[in-house]
Amino acid sequence: MPGDGIGPEIISEGRKVIDAVSELNGFEIDWVEYNNGAEKYLKTGELITEETLAEIKGSCKAIYLGALGDPRCKPGILEKGILLKTRFYFDQYVNLRPIKLLDGVDCPLKGKGPKDIDFTVVRENTEDFYVGIGNRVGKGNSKQGLEVLRELYKVKFGLDIESTDEIAYQIGVMSKSGADRVIKYGFELAKKENVETVYFVDKANVLSDIYGFWRERVELQAKNYPGIKPEFMFVDAITMWFVKNPEWFKVVTTPNMFGDIITDLGAMIQGGLGLAPGGNINPDGISMFEPIHGSAPKYKGLDTANPLATIWAGALMLEEIGEPESKELIVNAIQEILKEGKVKTKDLGGTHKCSEMGSAVAEKCKELFQ
Ligand code: IPM
Ligand code: MG
Repeated sequence: MPGDGIGPEIISEGRKVIDAVSELNGFEIDWVEYNNGAEKYLKTGELITEETLAEIKGSCKAIYLGALGDPRCKPGILEKGILLKTRFYFDQYVNLRPIKLLDGVDCPLKGKGPKDIDFTVVRENTEDFYVGIGNRVGKGNSKQGLEVLRELYKVKFGLDIESTDEIAYQIGVMSKSGADRVIKYGFELAKKENVETVYFVDKANVLSDIYGFWRERVELQAKNYPGIKPEFMFVDAITMWFVKNPEWFKVVTTPNMFGDIITDLGAMIQGGLGLAPGGNINPDGISMFEPIHGSAPKYKGLDTANPLATIWAGALMLEEIGEPESKELIVNAIQEILKEGKVKTKDLGGTHKCSEMGSAVAEKCKELFQ
C-alpha cells in the first residue's frame, strides 16, 4: 500500500530490494497493490472498506505501507481512516520501533556512537488516547454515547454532560488484557535478548488512573520474570535520558501516545527520520511494516526522499514472514552503504536520488550474498 506523498517512491525502492533478495534466497513475493490514500479518497470518498480489509486478511501475509497524509485532506482523515483503521482491524497491538544508530551515520548527540544507541521501543498500538473517542459540546446539557468495540473487549460510555462553557474532551482507554499483552511482549523481548532492565513509560504522577493501572499491570507481570527489573520512567524524564544517556536503554515499553512522541525523538538520535523503520505487529495475525516518517508531501515525485527507513521496514517484514536471512542481508547492506558513505540522499548530506539509493542497496545485497 504505497499511500500518499513520497509513499509510492519509497515503496518502489523497498520492493526493488525485496525482489532482489527474494531472488537470491529463492523465495517468491506476490505483490498485491492497494491504492488507498488521498487520491482515491478525493475521487470516491473511500478510505478503506471492510471488504478490502477482509480481502487482505484472506489473501496476504503482511502489509507494506509507504505513508499516509495529504494537505488536501483535513488532518487525521487519512491517518485515522486508513492507518489506524488497519492497525485496529488486524489488532496489531505492538508497534515495534528499533532505535539503532548505524556506523557511518552522524549522531546529533555529542560523544555518542553506535554502541550507545541501540534499543527497541515496544509501543502499545491499539489503545490509550488513540481509541478515538471524544467530542466537542456546547454550553448546557447533552448526552453522549461513546463506544470502543474490539475483538478483545467492548466498552460503552454513557455521558451526561452539563457544562457552563463550550468544551472538548477525549477519553483514553487502557484495558487489562490490552496492557498485559504488550507488557508481556516487552518482557519476552528482554528475556530473548538477555536484557536486565526494561524501561516502562508513563505519566502516573498526573494521569494516575490510566497510567497507575499500567504500572500495576507491569508490577504483576514482573513476578513472572525474576531476572528482569522493570524501571518506571515518566515520559518527560525519558525524553531527557534519551538525549543524555541513550546507552541505558535496551528495551523500552510504552503506552501508545507516549510511544508516538518518544519514537520521533528516537529517530533523530539514530540519525534522522530517513533511517527509522517500524512494524505494527500482531504476533498471531497480519502485521504491517512502514517507515516512522510521514508522507512528506513537499517532496512528492522529486525522487529525493531517503528510502532507507522503508527498505529497513521491508527487512523487518521479511523476518516476520519467515525469511530471517533476507532480513540480515538487507540490514547488512544498509549498514555497508552508510559506512562507505558513497551513496547519500539529501537528508544525509548527499545528492543521490531515492531510486539510486534503492539500487545501491539492492546491488550491495547481491555483493554480500554468498
Ligand atoms: C506514527 C504516526 C501515526 C501515529 C499518525 C500518522 C496517526 O505519527 O506512526 O508514529 O500517531 O501513530
Ligand atoms: Mg508518530
